[in-house]
Amino acid sequence: MSSSNDVALVAAVAERKAPNQAAHAVAVRSMFDRISPTYDLLNRLLSLGIDRAWRRKALELLARDLPADAPLLDLCAGTLDLAGAVEARFVGRRVLALDFARDMLVAGRAAGKVRSATTRLAVADAMRLPLADDCLAGVVCGFGMRNLADPRAGMREVCRALAPGGVFVTLEFFKPVRLVTRAFHGVYGDVVLPTVGSLVSRDRAAYAYLSRSMKGFLTRAEYEAALAEAGFAQVEGRDLLFGIASLVRGVKPPAARGAT
Ligand SMILES: C[S@@+](CC[C@H](N)C(=O)[O-])C[C@H]1O[C@@H](n2cnc3c(N)ncnc32)[C@H](O)[C@@H]1O
Repeated sequence: MSSSNDVALVAAVAERKAPNQAAHAVAVRSMFDRISPTYDLLNRLLSLGIDRAWRRKALELLARDLPADAPLLDLCAGTLDLAGAVEARFVGRRVLALDFARDMLVAGRAAGKVRSATTRLAVADAMRLPLADDCLAGVVCGFGMRNLADPRAGMREVCRALAPGGVFVTLEFFKPVRLVTRAFHGVYGDVVLPTVGSLVSRDRAAYAYLSRSMKGFLTRAEYEAALAEAGFAQVEGRDLLFGIASLVRGVKPPAARGAT
């Protein structure tokens, strides 16, 4: 598929009009592979470093009542910021960092973000995890769920792979509800993101997609309801910085089997 086709498709995908899930996956994966060389620099510039504090908060939520021993998954791990933080926060745990854009993982590894011998990287689709049922203690996903062709299918897959009592934490830019946050997302997403993105990465379309993917995503309340439908219990969420980003935590109920 050509790059311009990618862009058109990705634009449709952001509005949830993707012709099919396989095409969505190809378009999103190739876009992240393309922007992988400048992803970290842009992340720091565009978030002014606030994302580091948000990731720390995500791991605080993950640590609460986390089952012992079993591995942890950084889902849609990108350039491994969360995986590196998971390693440091849960020393000695087995950690799997999974993403379908190989170049994102390679960039993160080259930057030395994961060092532990107990951390593994995997190139795979979040909607078809190469994992057995009930094998994980916890899953954290930072800014990944809104990119899935079918986020609800992704939630069910996480639930399947978590052990009973396992914890799933999502850090995400949900569709904003508050007026002030909608205004901020509007200016930031329509102007700042594509402009700075195109200056640094020379890929305006990719950063315009990221903006559209926020607007086209679920609100936090809708996401929480979808998690409950996917089989999670104790679902709770909280906004960060007036809802610019949010955290949502859910637990796989002790007796539940993963939905298929
Ligand atoms: C916005 S980046 C976030 C990366 C990282 N988690 C972070 O916090 O910086 C989204 C990542 O999700 C990955 N992704 C999107 N859809 C995916 C899928 N279906 N399976 C696996 N990875 C996916 C992309 O390749 C990309 O690396």
